[in-house]
Amino acid sequence: MAVALIVLAAGQGTRMGSNLPKVLHPLAGAPLLWHALRAGAVLEPERRVVVVGHGAEAVAASAREADPEVAVVRQYDRLGTAHAALQAAPALEGFAGDALVLYGDTPFIGEDTLHALQAARSRADVVVLGFEAADPTGYGRLVMDGDRLERIVEQKDATEAERAIRLCNSGVVCADARLLMDLAAGVGNANASGEYYLTDIVALGRERGLTAGVVRCAEAETLGINTPSELAAAEAAFQARARAEAVANGVALQGPDTVFFAFDTALGGGATVEPYVVFGPGVTVETGARIRSFSHLEGCHVSRGATVGPFARLRPGAELAEGVRVGNFVEIKNATLDEGAKVNHLTYVGDAEVGAGANLGAGTVTCNYDGVSKHRSEIGAGAFIGSATMLVAPVRVGQGAMTGSGSVITEDVPDGALAVARARQVNKPGLAARLMARLRAGRTGRA
Ligand code: UD1
Ligand code: CA
Repeated sequence: MAVALIVLAAGQGTRMGSNLPKVLHPLAGAPLLWHALRAGAVLEPERRVVVVGHGAEAVAASAREADPEVAVVRQYDRLGTAHAALQAAPALEGFAGDALVLYGDTPFIGEDTLHALQAARSRADVVVLGFEAADPTGYGRLVMDGDRLERIVEQKDATEAERAIRLCNSGVVCADARLLMDLAAGVGNANASGEYYLTDIVALGRERGLTAGVVRCAEAETLGINTPSELAAAEAAFQARARAEAVANGVALQGPDTVFFAFDTALGGGATVEPYVVFGPGVTVETGARIRSFSHLEGCHVSRGATVGPFARLRPGAELAEGVRVGNFVEIKNATLDEGAKVNHLTYVGDAEVGAGANLGAGTVTCNYDGVSKHRSEIGAGAFIGSATMLVAPVRVGQGAMTGSGSVITEDVPDGALAVARARQVNKPGLAARLMARLRAGRTGRA
């Protein structure tokens, strides 16, 4: 059955106490909205629709960055969840299949849960995702009739008896897309909030002789973010899960509580991550690689058997081939290091290609920026770059070539050549002792 995903993301999120629209607050390096889109992606939805309102332009741009084919629709007045879902109707034109509604501020809905929800559609026209709440206050309550769902009653509209129900509505719902739109259009707003409740489609469906069912999930999955402290708790929950998953996949974490993952960090089994490592977005690390303590990685790839750190920074576009060694206080940006290349100490490599087996001495700098444009450095396979070499890009050091320590290389170095580009040394016999004596005598001497 084809699926269309509808993500409701028009709300303001006043309680975040920030001008940033709520769904753009980052969790594990990605906006909350992306987490909802990724959650829904497990059902391989043919169409993805995001309903925006508050901060519409920024939310739309973020949605398109996550998924260039997403349809963005605008809800101009926040009249309730049914009204929000209804805005997706034009984007579902010509679509036949089920619609799944998720909230943009609810990042943890799991894959198995969504598959269970989809499977339950063979038994009911409308399927709602419910959970047993530790504290149900504020949630819509699921009023059951045996194993059928009779209706959903919001906290504000609930009687004393209904408020005692602990089975709550997560907000996730799945139904045939046309039916969902049809029911959402039929919902009224005669309730305590004066809103068009999407939850009312259950009772409305029942009146039309349709059936509704419930799939249950853990409360942790339905965690919605409303406040900074809920966001912090969600981050902690995300990290705990990511660490456990990494270990289960065979990654060696020596200090799991001190390693921080991004939403898309991909570590191969057999990789080792030492304590105090931070992964920003877009990192892949292959098996057998070792990421040593106090390193920060983002947008990079570390191949099999490579070593990074301690105290290394890999920035976007860093591509480390097998067996590469990047040592302490080294920064790599937009550069490829071929097999077995070594950059062990105090070095900046930016906008560069480093050939296989090349060795960059301590304090090497690719001077890649002239104040206006960025330029590339090319270092051939097997080249040896002497310590404190400045490579003023654009420049190429040939295969097997060498540079003398302290050289400022402004011209290409041919294959196999030694380039020395620094002032020749002058020794003045006895001058040091004489100079020192003069200084001690309180005079200002000239050499
Ligand atoms: C909703 C459910 C409630 C459920 C709870 C779970 C309804 C009527 N109630 O209540 O049963 O227990 O979620 O968290 O659906 N939104 C829009 N446009 C609107 C209104 C809301 O896009 O006009 C979006 C919000 O940005 C949010 C989501 O829909 O992401 C839910 O809205 P919210 O106002 O938080 O609903 P609740 O009152 O929490
Ligand atoms: Ca809410």
